[in-house]
Order: sequence, then structure tokens, then C-alpha cells
Amino acid sequence: MTDESKNKVDMNEIVSLCKRRGIIFPSSEIYGGLGSTWDYGPLGVELKRNVKDAWWKAVVQEREDMVGLDAAILMHPKTWEASGHLESFTDPLVECRFCNQRFRADQIWRVEFVGQDGKPVHRTTLGTSQKEVIESFREEARRHQPNGLFSVKGLTELTEEDYRTLRCPSCDSVDSLTKSRMFNLMFKTFMGPVEDEASQIYLRPETAQGIFVNFENVLNSSRRKMPFGIAQIGKSFRNEITPGNFTFRSREFEQMEIEYFVKPGTDEEQLKSWVEERFQWYINLGIKRENLRIRPHGKEELAHYAKACYDIEYSFPMGWSELEGIANRSDYDLKQHTQYSGRDLSYFDEETGERYVPYVIEPSGGVDRAILAFLVDAYYQEEVRGETRVILRLHKALAPVKVAVLPLSRNEKLLPMSQEVYKSLKRHWMVSYDDAQSIGRRYRRQDEIGTPLCVTIDFQSLEDKAVTIRDRDSMEQIRVRVEELKDVLHQKLSEE
Ligand code: GLY
Repeated sequence: MTDESKNKVDMNEIVSLCKRRGIIFPSSEIYGGLGSTWDYGPLGVELKRNVKDAWWKAVVQEREDMVGLDAAILMHPKTWEASGHLESFTDPLVECRFCNQRFRADQIWRVEFVGQDGKPVHRTTLGTSQKEVIESFREEARRHQPNGLFSVKGLTELTEEDYRTLRCPSCDSVDSLTKSRMFNLMFKTFMGPVEDEASQIYLRPETAQGIFVNFENVLNSSRRKMPFGIAQIGKSFRNEITPGNFTFRSREFEQMEIEYFVKPGTDEEQLKSWVEERFQWYINLGIKRENLRIRPHGKEELAHYAKACYDIEYSFPMGWSELEGIANRSDYDLKQHTQYSGRDLSYFDEETGERYVPYVIEPSGGVDRAILAFLVDAYYQEEVRGETRVILRLHKALAPVKVAVLPLSRNEKLLPMSQEVYKSLKRHWMVSYDDAQSIGRRYRRQDEIGTPLCVTIDFQSLEDKAVTIRDRDSMEQIRVRVEELKDVLHQKLSEE
């Protein structure tokens, strides 16, 4: 593989591949889709399991200082008072009175130019940051005036008069945007048959709180010493105002979170070490280093509980975006839960005789975002003998199918041996069997879903009891005796 063979991937190509090959489907598609939720198909569910297994192996199985947890999605509503989510887990929202479209108020910008006649010209545009909008209007401003002067203002910086000149970014109506109001992102529901305020509960917006409320249970039942961590994978829900970019931002998503409890004073060092460890995890699973970067949060973007935070960002088709955040949550959560529950959540260090409330380092990754990054990074189109080959160069540990068994043809003489090989390999890995169409097309089908190895049974196999193994990336083929096949495949699948 050469870097030149890597095209800039368009998100539509990934969406189309995912739909075509049963990796990810729009949710409830037969009813027109729900928007912002996604279903993992037969191959996607394998990929997802593999991503989660790789994470669990790295952060629980291979470490001595970590244990796992699987807490309930529905939690006591006091949890969200204590955690601060009820008050602070909000985004500013504006709505168009005409088309009812909703927008994040902090993503609407008024751009004003000085036109050639010296009079102001203005536009309303969407953008995730002022910097992004400035970049995208630089050229246009130069076309208006040689000095290219223009201003970009967010809604909070506008006068009443300027606010009224805004146009709806969706339907273009003038003066139709409501004033911004804070919108809580937690989904509400009711527990039990009575739908009143007393029975109102929330779908968790982060898995983290299930860990904090179990801190004492885990500490007492598994006799842990500081520093130690609790890992959890699970669904979370956020009523995002503007979901989008395929699975990148959806309203139902899966998190892989660690809460790592440390002695106060060691938190900054631990934060650094977790940032490095988590960055390396993505690289170990095949993401190219140049497509990853670490970005410290500015003070103004820190979550209400965070003292510091670093994002691991990936260069997605829509630009650099967060893959995982590693935050220093200080002693905020344990102290809040102590206050709201009345339970002492401090730690007593028997060796030093000290009692303290631990600080928490939180590496928080998105399963769906990780999958999207692995797909984008692995996606290639190559010319092979005048044909385009789409290939997913997924890490072997992540590939949904590890081996495909392909009889050369549907000739019935090949069937018993092919089935025997297939059944024997299926006990060890996810293996697929494909005998439809030409062998070339079948190789392409496997390349497209990232199957690392194909095993072909031909007429000579019936004589010499040997089969051909074909490698996805190099397309090299080797001949192997059937009795050695499992060991050779095992070795190849374990190679980095
Ligand atoms: N627990 C951090 C987050 O969900 O963003």
C-alpha cells in the first residue's frame, strides 16, 4: 500500500458502502428513517463487537488497575441534579418561526462586508466556530473589495437591529429567528404508569455517572487501592439540536468510558499518561498518525465538571473532529454525590493513614465515532488491472469477517471439501462462505468489507489436499496443506 493510493474519502462513499454491505443502516428506514439514529447490520455488529473487545482488552483485561462495570441506563433522577446535568447540560437554541427548523444559537453567524459602493452587505451562515466562518468568507470578501474587509459576529454580539436582519439558514426568511434559549439535552421519560413530575426520569447522557454512584460498591467489593479505574461500555442519549455527519453525532450512541481514580496532586501527570495511552490505542489499531491530533480545550469550552481536557481528534471527511475526550474531572463528581446522597465517598489510604476524595481522570470515547474513523481510515480505491478495487484495510482484529472460504466454482465435486474447511474454521473465527459468481468478483466483495484472508479450494485441492490463501492487502497467494491451514491462518491473523 502506498499513501498515493489513498484518496480523500467522501463521507457519501462511506455511507453508501455501509448501506450496500450491511454495515450501518438508517434506523426505521421503512418509515422514512428517524433521523440521527442508526442500526448496525450483520457486518456492522461484528465490527462494533471487535472495536469494543479491543478496547476492553486494552483497558481492562491487560491492566491490573482496572475493573469493568455495566450500570443501568435509567438512574435515580437525583443523579442528574448532583452531576450538574440538570442545570448545565444545555445548548443554546434558536428556532425559525416560519419553517420551525431549530439551530444551535452558537453556530449561527452574521457576516458583513463592505461592498464596492461602500455600503454594507450581509449574510447569515452556519459554522461551528468563528474561525471556520472567517476562513470560508475570506475569498468572497476579497471579491467585494480589494482590502477584503468583513466582520463575523455571533448572535450574542448583535444589536437588536442586526438581529432582525438575520435570515433563516434553512428557509431564508428574514427576521424569523427566535431569541436564543437554553435547551437541556437530556431525554426525559416517565417511570411507572403515572406520567407526572414525580415519576420523571432521564435517559443517561453519559455512562460516567453509573460509575461514580458505584464507586463505593466497587471499592468495597473488589478491594481496590488507589490509583484504580472502572471501565464501562454502554448506550447514552442526547437530544442534540443538530445531529449529523452520519454516525458522528447521533441522539443515541455508545460510549466507552473510564473513570480513573487518583490521589489529588497526581492528577495532572495521570492525565498526560492517559492521553498518550489512548492516542496510541488508535494507532495500534491501524489509524494513521497523520490523521490524528491532540487538542487541549480552551477554558471557555470545558464541560461544567472539567478542570482540563484534551481531545483526540481525527481528520474526518468533514474536518478535524473529536474522537475521544480525556478530562480531568477533579473531585467534582464524588463530592457532588457525597453532598446529594449523604454517603461518604472518600478513600482511606491504609498505608499513609490519609483520607481524601479522589480526583478522576476520564478517557471518554465514542464507539460509533471510533468505528467511523476506522472505516474512513481503512477505505481505499485502487486501480487493479484496469478495474477499481474498493478495499477496507481494517486492522485484522477489527475486520468483521476474518476468513472467506471460496470454492473455485459451484461444481459439486468441490462442495464436500469446501464445506468441511468452512465448518472447521468457523469454530475459531467469523468465517464466510461464498460460491456465487466469479472468483475475481468474490475477492472484490471480500476486499470491500475488509476480510483479511480468503481461502480458495480448487480441483487440485481434491488431489493434493492443499488450498490457496490470498492476502487482502498484497493480493499475494500461497499454497498451504489443509492440515496446516488453521495454524497458518492463526499466525497470519496475529501478525501486526
Ligand atoms: N463523560 C463525558 C462525556 O460523556 O462527554
